[in-house]
Amino acid sequence: MMSQLNHRGLAELAKIYGGLFYLKMGQVHMVAVSTAEMAQQVLQAQDSVFSNRPATIAISYLTYDRADMAFAHYGPFWRQMRKICVTKVFSRKRDRSWASVREEIDSFVKNISVRVGSPVNIGEMLLGLTKNITYRAAFGSMSQEGQKEFLKIMQEFSKLFGAFNVADFVPWLGWINGQDFNTRLAKARGALDRFIDSIIDDHMEKKNKKNNKNNGEREVDDDDDMVDELMEFYGENGAKSSEPISITRDNIKALIMDVMFGGTETVASAIEWAIAELMKNWEELKKVQQELANVVGLDRRVEESDLDKLTYLKCVVKETLRLHPPIPLLLHETATDAVINGYKIPCKARVMINAWAIGRDGNAWAEPNEFKPSRFLENGAPDFRGSNFEFIPFGSGRRSCPGMQLGLYALELTVAHLCYTFNWEFPNGMKPNVAIPTHRLNNSTVYLN
Ligand code: HEM
Repeated sequence: MMSQLNHRGLAELAKIYGGLFYLKMGQVHMVAVSTAEMAQQVLQAQDSVFSNRPATIAISYLTYDRADMAFAHYGPFWRQMRKICVTKVFSRKRDRSWASVREEIDSFVKNISVRVGSPVNIGEMLLGLTKNITYRAAFGSMSQEGQKEFLKIMQEFSKLFGAFNVADFVPWLGWINGQDFNTRLAKARGALDRFIDSIIDDHMEKKNKKNNKNNGEREVDDDDDMVDELMEFYGENGAKSSEPISITRDNIKALIMDVMFGGTETVASAIEWAIAELMKNWEELKKVQQELANVVGLDRRVEESDLDKLTYLKCVVKETLRLHPPIPLLLHETATDAVINGYKIPCKARVMINAWAIGRDGNAWAEPNEFKPSRFLENGAPDFRGSNFEFIPFGSGRRSCPGMQLGLYALELTVAHLCYTFNWEFPNGMKPNVAIPTHRLNNSTVYLN
């Protein structure tokens, strides 16, 4: 039954039970929100009650007891972490992250270029791309050799985050998953401790050297990575933070994991869906390529400054996020008892806002299951910045995505490069819904595997 409680299963239940319905799993109260009106209630009208996060036993343990931003409950600690991230770590002013995106996309395109004419596993390659981007943005060039080890740690974290643990629902049945699960949790966190502790030590050494050189004054370096930014707030074991807010090693480790988990699969999945939809809807791919030819021409590469002029490409990205939001269920938790539409919702209820179902709601969208980017050209078309509740791929309000700008940048720039540089066809004569006429730009064709 648990496996049916995903966005699709909940959307089916919403057809029977409506835009707001209640479930009880063991001792856990759950509420599913499946319409824009109900989402507006939860994310805006009563957001102070609905801004906590639920966390399983595994998540609490692996985030050092919610020492991060994504799983911290709403309150002063979360506000501090969010402030650090928004003003420093994810800020557009911190050019290093944006530079990592450009550099990694360049080498990604080169890697595909040598495969022209043969099938590529684009999904796998895209995940590699976004992992490289976030890894470099987080740790800079200092720690390239450890990347493989770090990805292994992330993989285990990801499995443990998603593992079903009966103790989350019926605590006294915890013995069923037993000691093995707890041992795995301890091993995974131990590996992360060893890995990031050594990175923090390296960064600390670098910072001390710089401070000594500049008589204690901080020198902002264009090459500073996210750990450098976070180290400015580090104040533990005798270390003195230069900022009014002070964070610990555990906070740094947990925040880095937020960035790695928030910024890799989300962006990779959105790019993969965009390419898949464009291949299935060849006319749309042609429109995007024509726009790229008009704006960029045929004799140079796509640049960041082109993005603002690529109106249709942006519509394609929006339509992709409407149909395939990378985080289809937004998970919130009530801080107190609440009442929505006359229904009482208990304190500590797990609230699942179904962004996927809302984006496909026939009452809000015409032909909701069709891929039609041009709908976003219409006057008054919804935007994803959070005030149109029928379109919330980045959430809305207090807990909305702080990495939206960076994520969109990587998403738009990669889709632009992939459409501009290559033509895409299915391998082995496989046909999409419609036949794909041969259309060539720059004479390169890559087959999607
Ligand atoms: C296409 C790309 C992305 C999408 C669609 C996306 C979507 C989302 C969504 C739906 C949420 C939850 C909102 C809610 O609960 O109401 C979220 C939260 C979050 N995202 Fe993103 N995200 C993307 C990229 C990124 C990137 C690149 C980063 C970091 C570099 C990031 C970091 C985070 C963090 C840390 C949170 C938790 C915020 C909090 O709880 O206060 N995301 N994102």
